[in-house]
Amino acid sequence: MIGIFDSGIGGLTVVRAIMDELPGYDIIYFGDTARTPYGTKSGKTVIEYSLQNTEFLIKQGAKMIIMACNTASSVATESLKKRFNLPIYEVITPAVNRSLKETKKSIIGVIGTRATISSGIYEKKIKEQNPDARVYSAACPLLVPLVEEGWLKKPETRMIVKKYLHPLKTRQIDTLILGCTHYPILKSIIQHKIGKRVRVISSSTAVAKQIRDFLSSSPEIDRKLSKNGQSEFFVSDLTPQFEKTAKSVIRQHIQLKHVSL
Ligand code: DGL
Repeated sequence: MIGIFDSGIGGLTVVRAIMDELPGYDIIYFGDTARTPYGTKSGKTVIEYSLQNTEFLIKQGAKMIIMACNTASSVATESLKKRFNLPIYEVITPAVNRSLKETKKSIIGVIGTRATISSGIYEKKIKEQNPDARVYSAACPLLVPLVEEGWLKKPETRMIVKKYLHPLKTRQIDTLILGCTHYPILKSIIQHKIGKRVRVISSSTAVAKQIRDFLSSSPEIDRKLSKNGQSEFFVSDLTPQFEKTAKSVIRQHIQLKHVSL
C-alpha cells in the first residue's frame, strides 16, 4: 500500500494524481482534519504531527509514504527519513524539477502556506539547480480555509486569489508553482488570474509522475506495493462539508473513516 497524508483535503489532489498515474495501486490516506491547518503552525508541531501520521499509516500496512503536504515536506522530511526505514516522498523536489523544465525565462513564482514560504525551501532548491533563476514567492494563508470551506467558485475567493497573485504578475513570472496541495482545487481561478501565458505547475501531479518513474526503475520496491485497486481514507475529524469536498476532488464515491491518533 502507498500511504499518503496531509492536514486535510489537499492531499486528495495527490491521491487523485496517483490514481491517474498508477491505476490499481492500493492507497491508504490520512487527512489530519482535526488539526488542520498546518501552514500556520510551528515547525516543531508540524514535525510531531507528521511523525504520528506516518506511524499510523505504517501500522495500517503502508510500504511507502508520500507527504502530500508542502508544509510538512518543507519542515519534516529529514525527521521522517531519520525515524522510518521505508521510502518517504516529499512534494517539493518534483515541483521544482518540473518548473525548471517548463520555464523559459527562469522567472518562477511560488505560492504556498506561510510555513512553506517562510522556510524558503523552494527558492533554495530552485537556485541549487539554476543559480541564475529569479524566484518570487507569496504566502497565501487564506486559500487553505477557503478550500476546506468549499468556497471554490465564490467571487470572494476570486478576489483574494487576484490580490495574492498581483505582486507575482508584476514580476512577469512565466511559471507558477502551486506550492500547496490544496491549491490545485483552485487551479482554474489561479490560471485565469495569473494569465494564460504562465505555466501553472501543481506539486500534486509532479510528485505522482516522479513516483511512477521511480517505481518503474525500482522493481524491488514496486513488488512490495499491493495492487488490488483498493483505497482507504481516514480522517481525524469527519464533517459533512469535508465529505462533500473530498468526493468532488477524488471524483468518485469514497468512504471516509474517522480515527483518533
Ligand atoms: N496542503 C498542505 C500544504 O501543501 C497543508 C495546508 C495547511 O494545512 O495549511 O501545505
